[in-house]
Amino acid sequence: MENDVLRQGTLFSSLDDEAADALRASMGEATLRRGDTLFHEGDSGDKLYIVVEGKVKLGRTSSDGRENLLAILGPGQMFGELSLFDPGPRSATVSAVTDTSFLSLAHEDLLKWLEGRPDVSRGLLLQLASRLRRANDVAADLVFSDVPGRVAKALLDLADRFGRTADDGVHVHHDLTQEELAQLVGASRETVNKALADFASRGWLRLEPRSVVIMDIERMRRRSR
Ligand code: CMP
Repeated sequence: MENDVLRQGTLFSSLDDEAADALRASMGEATLRRGDTLFHEGDSGDKLYIVVEGKVKLGRTSSDGRENLLAILGPGQMFGELSLFDPGPRSATVSAVTDTSFLSLAHEDLLKWLEGRPDVSRGLLLQLASRLRRANDVAADLVFSDVPGRVAKALLDLADRFGRTADDGVHVHHDLTQEELAQLVGASRETVNKALADFASRGWLRLEPRSVVIMDIERMRRRSR
C-alpha cells in the first residue's frame, strides 16, 4: 500500500519493487489529527513528506493575521522539499484537514538517494515545474478571473483529485470549511458563499457539509475559464 503511494506521485513513479522497498526502509512515519499542525512557515526543516492517507492544507499568514491557502494535498503528493533545494525556512504552514498519515524522508537521505538516480531527479524537477506552472495560473487567475471563476476552478481541481463519480454527479469530499475554500481562492467568505449559492441555484452543483456534488461539470468548466 505504502509502496503504491510512493509510486503514485510523479516523484518515485519510476521505482521498481526493490528500489521502492529500499526507499521505504529509510523513511519514517508520522500522523496528525484533524486541525493539528505539522510545521509552521518560518520553521527550519530537514524532512520531505509524502501524504499516505488524508489531506493537508498549505497556508501562509499575512502580518495582519489573514490566511491564504496555497494548496490542498492528498495521497501520493509530496511537500517539504523547497527548504532542501533552496536552503531556508519552511515557506508555508502545513496543517491536517482530516486525520492524516505521512511518510517522511530526511533531506540528507533524499540527496544521497538522488545520486545516480536521474529518473527520480527528473521526477522531482517535473513536480517542481508543474507546481510553478500552477502557481503562475493561480497568480494570473487572481488578476484576470472573477471570484466565481476561481471557485469553479478550485472545485474542479479538488474534483480531479478527490472526486468520485456517481449517478447524480461527481461527489467531492473536500473536507474544507467555507472559510478555507475562501482562503484557497483568495476571496472573502461572503463572496465565495454567493458564488456557491449561485451555482447551486443554476443546478450545476449541490452543497453538502464539507463536500459538493458537481452535477454539471461542463458548465463548471466553462465558468472556470
Ligand atoms: P518547504 O518550504 O520545505 O515547506 C513548505 C512546503 O510547501 C514547501 O517546502 C513546498 O513543498 C510546499 N509548497 C510551497 N508552495 C507551494 C505551492 N504554491 N503549491 C504547492 N506546494 C507548495
